Parts: sequence; C-alpha cells; structure tokens
Amino acid sequence: MNHSDHPTAVLPGDVRIPLLGFGTWQATGEEGYKAVLAALDAGYRHIDTATMYGNEEEVGRAIRESGLRREDVFITTKLPPERVGRERETIEESLRALDVDYVDLWLVHWPPNNPGDLIPVWREMLAARDAKLARAVGVSNFSTAQIDELIQATEENPAVNQIKWGPRLYDRQRHAEHRDRGVVLEGYSPFKTTDLSDPVLTRIAGAHNVSPAQVVLRWHLDHEIVAIPKSVTPERIRANADIFGFSLTAEEMRDIDALGS
Ligand SMILES: NC(=O)c1ccc[n+]([C@@H]2O[C@H](COP(=O)([O-])OP(=O)(O)OC[C@H]3O[C@@H](n4cnc5c(N)ncnc54)[C@H](OP(=O)(O)O)[C@@H]3O)[C@@H](O)[C@H]2O)c1
Repeated sequence: MNHSDHPTAVLPGDVRIPLLGFGTWQATGEEGYKAVLAALDAGYRHIDTATMYGNEEEVGRAIRESGLRREDVFITTKLPPERVGRERETIEESLRALDVDYVDLWLVHWPPNNPGDLIPVWREMLAARDAKLARAVGVSNFSTAQIDELIQATEENPAVNQIKWGPRLYDRQRHAEHRDRGVVLEGYSPFKTTDLSDPVLTRIAGAHNVSPAQVVLRWHLDHEIVAIPKSVTPERIRANADIFGFSLTAEEMRDIDALGS
C-alpha cells in the first residue's frame, strides 16, 4: 500500500490525520531518534510526541533527516498541565525543539488540576491555532463532560480526544459520544492495555496469518479510531505498520468488541 493511501480521519479545518501513528513516550535520545527514523522508513506518516516526553528534538531531527517533506508528516505534541498560563511560550518551545513552523495537532495533555483553568486553557489552544502554530487543537484524557464544557463555552469542539483505549477498554457508548460531538477518538497504549495471548485475539490472528498485535491495531482502524503504537524495536515498528494486507470480518470485530464487556 502506498503511504499516501493510509486511511485518515478528517479534523476541523479539513486537516487529515492518519489513523495509524507512531507513539514516542519513553523513546528518547539516540534510541528515540532511531525509532522515529525507522518508523518513517516503515511508512508511518504520523508521529505522536509531547513536551513531557522530552524527545521533541530527536523527533524533529529524525523527521528532517528522513528526507520527507514537512507537509507529508503529521506531528502531534502536547501541553503539560504544569504549563497552564504559559501556553504560548510552551508551543513556541515545542516548535523550536522540533524545528518546524507549525504542528499538525496540539493537545492539552491532561485536564488542568484546577477546574477553573479548563476554559482559559482551551481559549489559549484556539488562539495558537488561529495564529497558525497548530493546524488543529484537541485534548487528551478528558471526560465527555469536560469536552461538553469546552464546547458550551466556546462553540469549538476539540478535534481529538486522546485516551487510553484497547479491546479490553472498548466502550461503544463512549465512542459514540465522541462521534456525536465531532471529536475524533485517538487511542493510546493499545498493547499495554491488552493481553496479546488472549484466545480471541490469537484465533483471529491465526485466521489471517498475522500477529495478535496487528489484529489489535487493525481493530482500532476499522472502528475509525486513531492508534499510536510505540516501539523501539525495528522489527516491531515495521510489523505494527504492516496492517493493510488483511481485514477483519464484522463477526471478528464483534468478538473483539466483546472483550470490553
Ligand atoms: N496522552 C497520554 O496521556 C498518553 C499516555 C500514554 C501514552 N501515550 C501515547 O501513546 C503511545 C502508545 O502508548 P504506550 O507507549 O503507552 O504503549 P503501547 O504502544 O501500548 O506499548 C508499548 C510497549 O509495547 C511493546 N510493543 C510494541 N510493539 C509490540 C508488538 N508488536 N508486540 C508486542 N509488544 C510490542 C513496546 O516494546 P518495545 O518498544 O521494546 O518494542 C513497548 O514496551 C505512547 O508512546 C504515547 O505517544 C499518550
């Protein structure tokens, strides 16, 4: 499959987010740099980082040295909770570390500790987007009620909510709540939340001659949920991107969904 054919979801502003991304938490220094370079070589065109991960420089260097055009790689970074009140300064630091003029998606990493900060932070995120420092803005680890507060106050929905997700955490209603509000659900920790030796996953993997990890990622994409698996192991980096040569049947999707009940 051609990389530009990877499935995407559409965010406000007609921004396209590839449904498969590459996670970089705990991938730092030379190891992080090499992992991102290997990911780009394996076909990922979406990299997930955060101020908190302390690896924006390595991520930026790998993207630059991959030889890909800036507009062909979707970059996400995130505002840490302790930076509330210093939003603009924080994104400017991220852009400097990444050595880019804009990120594609900037997320509030966690809801602010003080609930009174919720709306002011969201207004700062929107201002950064309007200043073209981020093409889209969203949140992470937010409840539906918190998302509703943002929408009520500003009439602007977060483009994305990045939350912990996997077959064991599957929640049809929570997914629908996001869809109803025009918020793309982005899952994190797809493997850490999953028992990869679960018999349902191994049976389905066997039927398609793939691994349970590949089944888990394909399941996210078939639900139109963004998946951002992390690995620093070249073989796994490649395997986690090699998920477009098979598809899951409706029955298999239902069987995996049922792991969440
Ligand atoms: N917004 C948030 O609060 C938040 C929180 C957590 C994570 N995230 C984001 O989501 C990304 C993914 O989540 P995560 O890093 O927590 O966990 P994950 O992607 O579920 O799991 C990563 C672990 O799985 C291993 N692994 C990778 N591919 C595998 C495979 N094919 N088979 C078996 N094991 C495999 C990795 O090992 P090796 O690296 O040794 O290969 C690593 O130990 C993060 O990197 C980060 O970008 C966001």
